[in-house]
Amino acid sequence: MKNRQHWSSRYVFLLAAIGSAVGLGNIWKFPYIVGEHGGGAFILVYLLCITLVGIPVLIAEVFIGKTAQANPVAAFTNLAIQVKASRFWVIFGYLGVLTGFLILSFYSVVAGWSLEYLSVFLQNSLLGFDAKAIEDHFLSVLASAPTLLLWHSIFMVLTVIIVGRGIKSGIEKMVGIAMPLLFIILIILVIYATQLDSFAQTLHYFLDPDFSKLNTQAVLIALGHAFFTLSLGMGAMMIYGSYLQKNTPIVRLSFGIAIMDTLVALLSGLAIFPLIFAHHLEPSSGPSLLFISLPNALLALPFGQFFGIAFFFLLLIAAISSAVSILEPVVAYLVQKTQYSRGKIVSMVGAIIWLIGIGVLLSFNHWSEVKILGNNIFDSLDYLTANILLPLGGLGIALFATWILDKNPKTSIGMVGIPHKIWWLATAFLAPVAIITIAYNGLI
Ligand code: PHE
Repeated sequence: MKNRQHWSSRYVFLLAAIGSAVGLGNIWKFPYIVGEHGGGAFILVYLLCITLVGIPVLIAEVFIGKTAQANPVAAFTNLAIQVKASRFWVIFGYLGVLTGFLILSFYSVVAGWSLEYLSVFLQNSLLGFDAKAIEDHFLSVLASAPTLLLWHSIFMVLTVIIVGRGIKSGIEKMVGIAMPLLFIILIILVIYATQLDSFAQTLHYFLDPDFSKLNTQAVLIALGHAFFTLSLGMGAMMIYGSYLQKNTPIVRLSFGIAIMDTLVALLSGLAIFPLIFAHHLEPSSGPSLLFISLPNALLALPFGQFFGIAFFFLLLIAAISSAVSILEPVVAYLVQKTQYSRGKIVSMVGAIIWLIGIGVLLSFNHWSEVKILGNNIFDSLDYLTANILLPLGGLGIALFATWILDKNPKTSIGMVGIPHKIWWLATAFLAPVAIITIAYNGLI
């Protein structure tokens, strides 16, 4: 493909991929699922999932994209033809596109909460509120469909604009500014948290595992989260890999992505939990941890407004740089498929996701009684995508990369010796077995 766009450099790819990986998953979801599942023990299982399953599958996914130089659907199709494998593999390309639609529709709603809280802290409108009033504020935001719709719409428009501008003038430019900023803000927030007496308690909480709260469900959640946080299983890393030059070595880059992502998750925990503990709040309060407990804690502290602004701005940039990577594979596929312009496709896809998002935001108020298998629409989408669809997509990617592509000399991954053996065993056996066993037990 002569005219295919490519990243300006490997460094830019790294920034964009870290931008994809680092998102609401790290700053919003990771701290609260750690809190719900007892701290250190859960972190341990999560780190195992990242190392044994996440990194091998990440290498596999970037490898498929780089080799195919194409969007996920075309990648599976073309490569299967090239190595004379079954056309069935393309199912995983379509699965990825579908998953992208679903993830972004609820991701955008949560990202909208960060816009709401950014605006709240900018105006300092929670000043003087007691704990109950702060909680009520979040509940009233959830209860107000127009408020949720406003922020969801703004977030979708921002995402659509960036993706609409393409790789070089959209995504590259944005991550070039956003990612360095994100790291600076995060480090300032962690330094702030180290000044609190409760910092030691946080280290204790992280390092002192309580295994009693670990069950198979928790292990499934850790595994699902490993996929979610590394943006695996739906083609985001594949499409980013496809914009690399074909001869780029990818193993070290993949490690770089996974290490930075894990670091940000742990640092976010170190920034958030000391605030929570300082105010004797419950770390296990679930998805509202960041929007009730954290504002509560912040407002009682010196410079709380300033750090609140910094925090929710951090959350916003992390969310945008992930959202663009959820949209990109869907858009790249449809542009190639329909030959419409990128602008047209982005607007259409953005509009459909925005509409699904309305269903999601209504599940917090008018449609809260609409249940799918006992959960509301939001929880169902979150659970379905992170714990079922992404691991399933990851399974397909792992098997295709090892048993189909790497087996063929024309499309082998180009690693040699022991590193190759380790990657192969992890990706062809260990990851699939882990995914199947955990999913089987977790779902039953
Ligand atoms: N990794 C992102 C996060 O942690 C979410 C994401 C999932 C992005 C799947 C792309 C694909 O928030």
